[in-house]
Amino acid sequence: MAGIVVVGAQWGDEGKGKLVDVFASKADMVVRYQGGANAGHTLVVNGQKTVLHLIPSGILHPETVCAITSGVVIDVFGILDEIKRLKAAGLLANPRQLLISDGATVLLPSHKALDAAREASLSGEKIGTTGKGIGPAYEDRAARRALLFGDLFDRATLRAKLELHLREKNHLLQSLYQAEPVGIESLMAQIEQAAGELAPYRCRDTGFIINRALKANKRVLFEGAQGSMLDIFHGTYPYVTSSSTLAGSACIGAGIGPMQINQVIGVFKAYATRVGSGPFPTELNNETGERLRTLGHEFGSTTGRSRRCGWLDLPALRYAIRLNGITNLALMKLDVLTGFEKIGVCTGYRLDGELLTEPPPTQSDFVRVEPVIEWLPGWSQDLTKLTNLKDLPRTATNYLDFIGSQIATPIDVISIGPGREQTLWVKPLFNN
Ligand code: IMP
Repeated sequence: MAGIVVVGAQWGDEGKGKLVDVFASKADMVVRYQGGANAGHTLVVNGQKTVLHLIPSGILHPETVCAITSGVVIDVFGILDEIKRLKAAGLLANPRQLLISDGATVLLPSHKALDAAREASLSGEKIGTTGKGIGPAYEDRAARRALLFGDLFDRATLRAKLELHLREKNHLLQSLYQAEPVGIESLMAQIEQAAGELAPYRCRDTGFIINRALKANKRVLFEGAQGSMLDIFHGTYPYVTSSSTLAGSACIGAGIGPMQINQVIGVFKAYATRVGSGPFPTELNNETGERLRTLGHEFGSTTGRSRRCGWLDLPALRYAIRLNGITNLALMKLDVLTGFEKIGVCTGYRLDGELLTEPPPTQSDFVRVEPVIEWLPGWSQDLTKLTNLKDLPRTATNYLDFIGSQIATPIDVISIGPGREQTLWVKPLFNN
C-alpha cells in the first residue's frame, strides 16, 4: 500500500505541480481531494502550454488514472473546457482515465457571480479570492443545499434543484449586491448539455476505487491544492480558502482512512509568496521583493495577479510540518536566489517582547508580529544546470543546512528549475 500526500507547506504556489508531475509517471492514480478551479497548474503538452485547474497532471500519462473526489468543488463548464483542451492535444483518449465522483459538489456560474459580488462589496477587508466561486460553493455544501455531481444526471429532479438554488442566489445577487441574476432557462440548457458531455467520466464513488487500489498495493498520489496557511481551520482566517488544505483532508475528501497514508511530502519554496490579502510577516515591499517576483515569475496561474514576495518564513513552515505531519520536504526554486548578496530567513516572530517559533492563533496578533531575520551569505553561480548535489556552491549548502537545523524534518528534494531534470535528490522519494 502506498498512499502519498503532496501538500503545500506555505501559502500555495509552492511548486507542488512539478513534484506531482515527477511522481505521476510512477503512480497508478493521482487524486484531487479538495479545492476547485482556484488551483492552477501550467503544463506543456506537445509543445503547447496549457493550464489545468481541476484535472490532475497525471492525465499526461495514459496509464495513470486521475480521480476528482467528493471533497472537490467542480466548475462543470470549466472542467469541460479542460477536457476539450486535453483531447485536442491528443490526451485523455480513454474516458476511464478520468473519474469524477458523484459526490463532488457542483460549482455553478451563480457561485462565481456571488463570489465576485461579495468581494466587490467589501472595501478594506477584501479576502482577494480567485473569483472562482469556491467560497459560495463550499457554503452550499455545508448548508446541505448543494447540487452534487450525480444530481446532474437525474433529469427528473434537476430542474427543481436548480430552481431552489437560483431562488436564493438570485435574491442575494439582486437585493443585496445589485448584481445581475442568473437565468434558469439558459443555465438549465447549458447544464443538460454539459452533463451529456461529462457522463463518460462519471464515477459513483471514487473512494471505493481509491481504497481498492491502495489495498492492491498500487501507488496513489493525493495532490493537495493551495497551501497549509490557507487552510479554513488552521490558516490565517479569514484570509484563507474555504476548504481544508491539509494532509488529513486527503482522507476526508477522498473517502479513505488515515492509516492508508504512508507519507506526507511538504513542498516549500526557498522564499515565500502569498496571493490575496492577509498577514505575511516576511513580505518585502521593496526592490528585493520585486526582484524575487521577477526572477521567480511570481504571477498567479489562475488569476494572473502579482504574488506578494518575501523571505522564507520558518515559523510558518514549522507550523505546516506539525499540521500535516510532514515526513519529507521538497525545497523548490532554490535557483531563484542566485545573485542575492545576502539572503534573509525568518527564524521566529517577536510579539509583545515574546519570541514565538510558530504563528500565533489569532489574526489580531498575527498582523502585529515582527519577523526575526537571520542573514546568510548568498551565491552568484547559476544553479539551473547542476546535476549533482555536490556541485552546489558552499553558501547554498550552508543555506540548506541552516534551514535543516531549524526544522526537524529531512529535505529530500531540491528543485533548481522548472524542468524535471532540474531536480537534485538528496534521497529518492518515489523509488525513482
Ligand atoms: P478562494 O480560494 O478563491 O476563495 O481564495 C481565498 C484565498 O486563497 C485568496 O487569498 C486566494 O488568493 C488564495 N488562493 C486560492 N487558491 C490559491 C492557490 O492555488 N494558490 C495561492 N493562493 C490561492
